[in-house]
Amino acid sequence: MTLPGSKFYDVVVLGAGAAGMMCAIEAGKRGRSVAIVDHSPSAGDKIRISGGGRCNFTNINASAKNFISKNPRFAISALSRYTQRDFIALVERYGIAYHEKTLGQLFCDGSAKQIIEMLVAEMLRHGVELRLGTEIKRVEHRVDGGFRVALSTGDVVCKSLVIATGGKSIPKMGATGFGYEIASQFGLKLVETRPGLVPLTFDPATLARLEPLSGIAVDAVAQHGKTRFAEAMLFTHRGLSGPAILQISSYWREGDEITLSMLPGIDVFATLKAAKAERGKQALQTVLATLLPKRLAQLIAEAEQGPANLADFSDKALRRVEAATNAWRVKPLGSEGYRTAEVTLGGVDTDELDPKTMAAKAVPGLHFIGEVVDVTGWLGGYNFQWAWSSGWVAGQAV
Ligand code: FDA
Repeated sequence: MTLPGSKFYDVVVLGAGAAGMMCAIEAGKRGRSVAIVDHSPSAGDKIRISGGGRCNFTNINASAKNFISKNPRFAISALSRYTQRDFIALVERYGIAYHEKTLGQLFCDGSAKQIIEMLVAEMLRHGVELRLGTEIKRVEHRVDGGFRVALSTGDVVCKSLVIATGGKSIPKMGATGFGYEIASQFGLKLVETRPGLVPLTFDPATLARLEPLSGIAVDAVAQHGKTRFAEAMLFTHRGLSGPAILQISSYWREGDEITLSMLPGIDVFATLKAAKAERGKQALQTVLATLLPKRLAQLIAEAEQGPANLADFSDKALRRVEAATNAWRVKPLGSEGYRTAEVTLGGVDTDELDPKTMAAKAVPGLHFIGEVVDVTGWLGGYNFQWAWSSGWVAGQAV
C-alpha cells in the first residue's frame, strides 16, 4: 500500500553522479517512470572537477584488464555491452569536441560541464524527474518486494532501487559511505574499502632529505610486485604524486615497498661507464644532470659520497648509482587518504551482484552501479567508463 503523499516510480536512482545519470537515462528511454535523488543541489559534481575541469570521460583502450576487483572478470559483461565507442558516439551526437591527451585518454576540448549538460539534457528528454538538494533518510524493503525511500521532501516508493552514491573519496564534495550502509542493511558482503589513485607520503626523515626535490617531475616507471606503470612522477612536499604514483597507489598496501625507475629505458651503468672513459674529470653530479633534473642529480650524487671525479668511481659504485636512479626502492609511510584520493577501492562484493543487470542476487530490484561496487579503474578515463557501462546495463534491467 502506498501512504498518502508518497509518490510511486518504477525506478528510483540514489546518486546523480556519472553512473546514476546514465542508468536514469536508459530506464527513462524504456518508458519507466524514474526519479533521481542527490543531496547535492547540482548533478555530476565529480564530473565537473574531473580531468582538471576537462573530464577524461573514457579511454579508447578500456577493457576489463584496466580494472581492479576481487573478481577481475566481473566487469567484462557491462564493459562489452556498453563500450567506450558507445559513449564517444553520444558525445559526438551532442557535438562536444574532444581530443586524445595521452595513452588513449579522451578529454573535452572545452569543459567538463558539457558532459554534465549532455547527461542532464538526456535525462530531461526521457522524462527523468530530478530531485536534487534532497537528503535520503532511510530505505525500507516493502512486503510487496518494492522499496520505500524516506527523503527530506517526503517518501517515494519504487519497484527498482538503484544505488549509485559512489565511494568515499573527497568527502568535502559530498562523498559518503551511504551505498555501503545500504548494502550492509540488505546483508550484502563488502570488500574492504581503501583510497585509490592517491598521492603517497613519506616519513619525516625521508621527507627532510627529499625536501629540495619538491615540485620536480620526471618520467618514471613505478612498480609494485609485477605491476608497473610508465608515466610521469612528481616529488611533493608530502611525498610522491603524478600519474605513475597514483596508478601504483591502487596496488600498494601499508608496509610495502615500491620500486621507481627514474631513467626508464636507459642503461645507467653503461652510460656512466662511457662517461667515465670519455669525461673522467667530470663530477658524477654533472654527468647525472645531463640525464635528470639538476636537483635530483645532485641529491643522488651526494648520497653516494664518492670521489670528486667520475674517473675514480669503481664499477661497484656505479652500480649503486644505477640502483639509486633505476631501482630506487622506497617504502611510503602512507597515502593522503580519501581527502585527495580519486577513487575508492573495494565496495559491494561482486559475488553479490549479477554482472548482466548489477542487481543484488539476493534482493531482486536492488541494483548497485558505479564506484560503490568493488570495481575500480586505473587512472585515465576508466572509472567513468565503468560508471557509464554499469549504469547502462542496470538501465536495461530496471
Ligand atoms: P559519483 O561520486 O560520481 O556520484 C555519486 C553521487 O551520489 C554524488 O552526486 C553524491 O553527491 C551522491 N551522494 C553520495 N552520498 C549521498 C547521500 N548520502 N545522499 C544523497 N546523495 C549522495 N574518473 C575518470 O574516469 N576520469 C577522470 O578524469 C576523473 N577525474 C577525477 C578527478 C577527481 C578529483 C576525482 C575525485 C575523481 C575523478 N575520477 C575520474 C573518478 C570519477 O569521478 C568517479 O569514479 C566517478 O565519478 C564515479 O561515478 P559514480 O556515479 O559511481 O559516483
